[in-house]
Amino acid sequence: MNIQNIGIFYFSGTGNTKLVANLFADKFKRKEFSTKLIPIEDILNKKLALSIDDYDLLGFGHPVHAFSAPKIFFDFLDRLPNVDDKKTFTFKTAGDPLCSGGSTSLVRKHLNKKGYKVFHENLIVMPANVMLKYDDSLIKQLYEVAVKKVKRGTKEILLGKVNLQKNSLWLKIGTYMFNKAESNGASYFGKYLITTDSCNLCGKCIKECPTRNISVSNGKIIFGNKCTFCMRCVYICPEKAISNKYMNLFVIKEGYNIQNVINDPEIKGNFITHKTKGFFKHFYKYMSEY
Ligand SMILES: Cc1cc2nc3c(=O)[nH]c(=O)nc-3n(C[C@H](O)[C@H](O)[C@H](O)COP(=O)(O)O)c2cc1C
Repeated sequence: MNIQNIGIFYFSGTGNTKLVANLFADKFKRKEFSTKLIPIEDILNKKLALSIDDYDLLGFGHPVHAFSAPKIFFDFLDRLPNVDDKKTFTFKTAGDPLCSGGSTSLVRKHLNKKGYKVFHENLIVMPANVMLKYDDSLIKQLYEVAVKKVKRGTKEILLGKVNLQKNSLWLKIGTYMFNKAESNGASYFGKYLITTDSCNLCGKCIKECPTRNISVSNGKIIFGNKCTFCMRCVYICPEKAISNKYMNLFVIKEGYNIQNVINDPEIKGNFITHKTKGFFKHFYKYMSEY
């Protein structure tokens, strides 16, 4: 493959996919490829112009939402221009290794239709940012495995190796149904977001919301109907003042911030072993393949 310039487009609600996008970019840069990271919200919000012609190889990354990709990511794919056989790889982050196929086929279909030839797909398991707080030693371990998986992925991508995730019929049907439910459910989640009395109107949520769904009116924070269910506003609020009236089970009570764990040298990534039983047993296979 004759590659000089690499463009990596990604969406990340709470930092996992951004971290993985950065790992890919670092690896490519170390191999002397000019590599640019582009958050898709900056294109959708017109902070950056969309240019595809500058790149010989493209990467697209997203978090898995309900077996699929969030609406904002599909909105971005819809905006992409048609191209002629662009070499393309994808990566997705999910809270569970079970999400191996699923969304990949929908994203692949969207990209292939426009001439982006997806030849390499990567599932990188990261901590869940909804419902369940993973143990810190599991968070650290998932990050350490992510570094190794990205290293292998980068090598294969540069060699032009084909690696497409397998899909079963039930997964395709399930993904399609979950995707529809999630796209509609996201605006409901946004509709029922509320702020408590500890909100001091600092405006951080307004500034950080990827869909510009948050505003202030009559001295109160207002949530519109463009929520993409990314959880960013809930976890970045310095006062922990944002919650959901009816769907608060999705919110991790302790909050979510992966950087705190990665940067803490005292935390050891030793949660999963070959002896692991129970819910996390199936993580071992994912963790031992790189
Ligand atoms: C609305 C929503 C739905 C999710 N659905 C799934 C899912 O179906 N399977 C899964 O493994 N993880 C799921 N997750 C967890 C995220 O995919 C995972 O934590 C991801 O790494 C978050 O990436 P980000 O920090 O870049 O947003 C979901 C997260 C959200 C917010």
